[in-house]
Amino acid sequence: MPSTPAADPWVARDAAVVWHGFTQMAAYPGNAPVIVDRAEGRELIDVHGKRYFDGISSLWVTTLGHHVPELDAAIIDQLGRVAHATLLGNGSRAAVEFAEALASVVPVQDPHVLFGSDGAVAVEQALKVAFQYWVNRGEPGHNRFLALGDAYHGDTVGALSLGDGGFGTSIFDPLRFPVIRTPGYASPDWAAKMIGCIEAHADTLAAAVIEPLVQGASGILVADPADLTSVGEACRSHGVLLICDEVATGFGRTGRMFASEWAGPEFRPDLLCLGKGITGGYLPLSVTVASGRVFGAFNGADLSESTFYHGHSYGGNALACAVALRHLQLIDEWQVLDNVSAVAEHLEARLADTVQGLPGVGEIRQRGLMAGVELDPPPGSVRWGRRVCAGAVERGVVLRPLGDVVVVMPPLTTTVEEIDRVTDVLGRSIGAVWAEDHG
Ligand SMILES: Cc1ncc(COP(=O)(O)O)c(C=O)c1O
Repeated sequence: MPSTPAADPWVARDAAVVWHGFTQMAAYPGNAPVIVDRAEGRELIDVHGKRYFDGISSLWVTTLGHHVPELDAAIIDQLGRVAHATLLGNGSRAAVEFAEALASVVPVQDPHVLFGSDGAVAVEQALKVAFQYWVNRGEPGHNRFLALGDAYHGDTVGALSLGDGGFGTSIFDPLRFPVIRTPGYASPDWAAKMIGCIEAHADTLAAAVIEPLVQGASGILVADPADLTSVGEACRSHGVLLICDEVATGFGRTGRMFASEWAGPEFRPDLLCLGKGITGGYLPLSVTVASGRVFGAFNGADLSESTFYHGHSYGGNALACAVALRHLQLIDEWQVLDNVSAVAEHLEARLADTVQGLPGVGEIRQRGLMAGVELDPPPGSVRWGRRVCAGAVERGVVLRPLGDVVVVMPPLTTTVEEIDRVTDVLGRSIGAVWAEDHG
């Protein structure tokens, strides 16, 4: 199919050489993409000078905003020392300092930090660590993973296997390894079903995997913290490793530093996957945090088989670690979690007032500053999510749908005025699409 020609020369240049992920490139030039030139605070500014509120935190990574002087300075300072030094067999001061700071806040017992670069890598690492943990303990046969319906854990083949499909990824089904799957958060008895499976398959499970509190990419499906607590208890009492994927929910997104904290102090993942907001949205970095129990199973003689033979060239990049450390400090210094709680409450109220009652709007789900507005298009209407978000972008707010769920995921420092701007634009964009289909 010939590609739609681009009216904007920047879009034409982009489409000529850049292959965008999750994007049909033949349609891309015709979809009025925003080509960002720079940013200020929580606004992106395109190559023509038009400003947009970043309503999706640049795909859920930006926490404090863009171009934050303190974060910029942390990178510049680190640049004066070293940009990158490998962590395979050696260390770096930046990685040590960040790992120490992270270890003091993660809900993991005696934490050890294995660095990666993207969220999917953090998940891959967790899968392989969990598998080898059992082998190292002399208990092979723990080679299956229990994952939830609607799960999304990233796009590498292991992470994809844990995921429940969707987003056009069923084409990769032949590459997926089989997992045991119980229903996700959309099902009210998800926890009971998962616990049943933990009990039934404890002998063969390498680990059970969840996204605590919110299944993000599946459309902001939300769980009750008490259910998480029960799943954590079941894993503990049956000796099943628990992997918590907090790539999306970590670093304050849900109003606590980590979503796992909502499940209470006893809820302790054996492996915790973090990415996205870890550097405030500045540089690619991810980590798999292992408990002391898991880490300890890999101790052995030098070059022995108990070693974890896995690593990435840029894992623990020094610039990324330096900005991640400063970011952690700023979350504390600026009392960012308090802002998330206050602004999330305002977002909930505004969505209820200005969006909930509109024709074409179904359920609205939210935890902290992660919200999903499920559209309920009239029969015969197509691409509602896409069209509503295109309308929002035109009106100066970047939003991106997951199917027909509009995700509202603003930076954690967002103000109530900015929330008003986002909800107002969202309401108007839904109204306009409704009017188009009923005109
Ligand atoms: C829960 C979860 N895990 C893993 C990933 C993959 O992260 P990345 O895109 O950085 O590979 C995502 C991305 O959206 C995610 O939401």
